[in-house]
Amino acid sequence: LGRQGIAVPAQGPAAGAPAAGPKVTVLYATETGNAASVAKQAAERFSAAGLEARAVNMADYKQRDLKSETHVIMVAATHGEGDPPEGAAGFFEFLAGRKAPKLDGVKFAVLGLGDTSYVHFCEAGKMLDRRFEELGAERIAERVDCDVDYEDAAEDWIASLADMLAADAPAQAAEAATAAPSGLAAFGLAPAPAPAAPTYTRKNPFEAEVLDSIRLNGRYSDKETQHIELSLEGSGISFQPGDSLGVIASNDDALVDEVTTALDLKPDAPVSVNGADKPLAEALRDDLELTMLTPGFLKAYAEASGAEELADLTREGNEAALQAFLKEHQVADVVARWPAPGLDAARFAGMLRKLQPRLYSIASSHTALPDEVHLTVGVTRTTPRGRARSGVASTFLADRCAPGEQIRLYVSENENFRMPSDPDQPLIMIGPGTGVAPFRAFMQEREEMGAQGKSWLFFGDRRFREDFLYQTEWQRWLKDGVLTRMDVAFSRDQAEKVYVQDRLREKADEVYAWISDGAAIYVCGDADSMAPAVHEALAGILQEQGGYSAEDAETYLKQMQRERRYQRDVY
Ligand code: 2AM
Repeated sequence: LGRQGIAVPAQGPAAGAPAAGPKVTVLYATETGNAASVAKQAAERFSAAGLEARAVNMADYKQRDLKSETHVIMVAATHGEGDPPEGAAGFFEFLAGRKAPKLDGVKFAVLGLGDTSYVHFCEAGKMLDRRFEELGAERIAERVDCDVDYEDAAEDWIASLADMLAADAPAQAAEAATAAPSGLAAFGLAPAPAPAAPTYTRKNPFEAEVLDSIRLNGRYSDKETQHIELSLEGSGISFQPGDSLGVIASNDDALVDEVTTALDLKPDAPVSVNGADKPLAEALRDDLELTMLTPGFLKAYAEASGAEELADLTREGNEAALQAFLKEHQVADVVARWPAPGLDAARFAGMLRKLQPRLYSIASSHTALPDEVHLTVGVTRTTPRGRARSGVASTFLADRCAPGEQIRLYVSENENFRMPSDPDQPLIMIGPGTGVAPFRAFMQEREEMGAQGKSWLFFGDRRFREDFLYQTEWQRWLKDGVLTRMDVAFSRDQAEKVYVQDRLREKADEVYAWISDGAAIYVCGDADSMAPAVHEALAGILQEQGGYSAEDAETYLKQMQRERRYQRDVY
């Protein structure tokens, strides 16, 4: 994939004829890859309609090109507290700043991807929509804000925009679209194949066989980390180091039972999901979210149950209490504590969100192991205050996917976490806990390619004897020179906690030397506390070793992010 985006060649009826009409730039701000995939789908569709369209990641977009655009279609994801995806932050800052260009004569439309469970729903999309208007651009379609279940809304949006843009094209576009076939097509041959579109998607996953499933922690560990190997044989699926795997899990039958019993609902009561009728128990197992609680559910359930306490939580002004409650409870906790006599199956099913696939960073290299994909799964079995509760996908993978079983999956590209294209470029990899997964893929890839660049791994977990994930593999790579250095932080082997950021600080002079030498920095793992702490340590190293002011250290790291020399995959 070129740094400047993916040029999507014309296809469909207009293939062979030069694309005419407006040049359409589909800009995307992507966190998990969904926005990228919608944007690419849009560009393909616009090309098929005879337009010249390209999809470009905002992280790679030349800001000064904005002045010369005529049609800008944007797909933006929102993450955290209403922030744009990290890679797109530079574009957002540029737009918000005083140097933003006048956009008179530019036509635009925005699709936001978000999650209604968050207060700042689709904020990044809203900001683009607002700002383009302020800068004088003309909105050609109302913004659409999508919830996690975005596919149908996105498809409709793309289709209506394609019609609108084609109508906006000068007559020749229409002519091109209806012209007699020329070139290869005139001989009845198929036009050039479209760029490798992922055949397996969220909607159309691949059924993979589980080859192996091994607990990585020792028997006395209080953590549960599972290494899972899946077969991709016959799928044609490929992926790059840094990509994620989407796993379509299902809920535990025992949990389904608990919920239907608490609500006094018949498991075989018919309900409708995705336009098909099926028994309630089956829908609860395969199609609906039973672990993650959403504000939408709580609101609807408060009404159905008449529970004042729940109604209170959903009132304006109680956002913080609501968020805390959502984090600490699951659907089963709520229905057990607040009964809703008379609630029927269809209404209950209608309150629940569709079960979403869960994403895991891939722990193996496609180049090294083309027929397999490996995962490092941290298994969650409790919620902070609720009863013993499980995460849906991690326990599904750990407990219900023995070798020989089938699981449904698809690859989710992660353009925000890519190895340097230069095999000689040094790597600094920081990945405590399951955050180490992509670095195993990095090392497999570098070994397979015979890459010569130096590499340095910072790993951390609780205890050396119990939790040193993939210990023998790192040691072998160290011996073979694929991995140059490794520093470990076992937080619970001594009285004082030691974390990866402490190891970074201890080695400040050498870390600084590596950075000066052009090293690319990768951070994977916990987003709430680890990633900010590592960021702070890096900024500290730049100040202490490089003589930067606090502000300049931040600018330096931002610049590294822009150049993709500092990338994060945090969750
Ligand atoms: P702890 O559980 O002993 O606090 C992988 O989960 C490792 O990350 C564990 O050793 C864990 O330590 C550690 N960890 C917890 N909080 C962290 C933080 N804020 N920064 C870095 N590592 C952290």
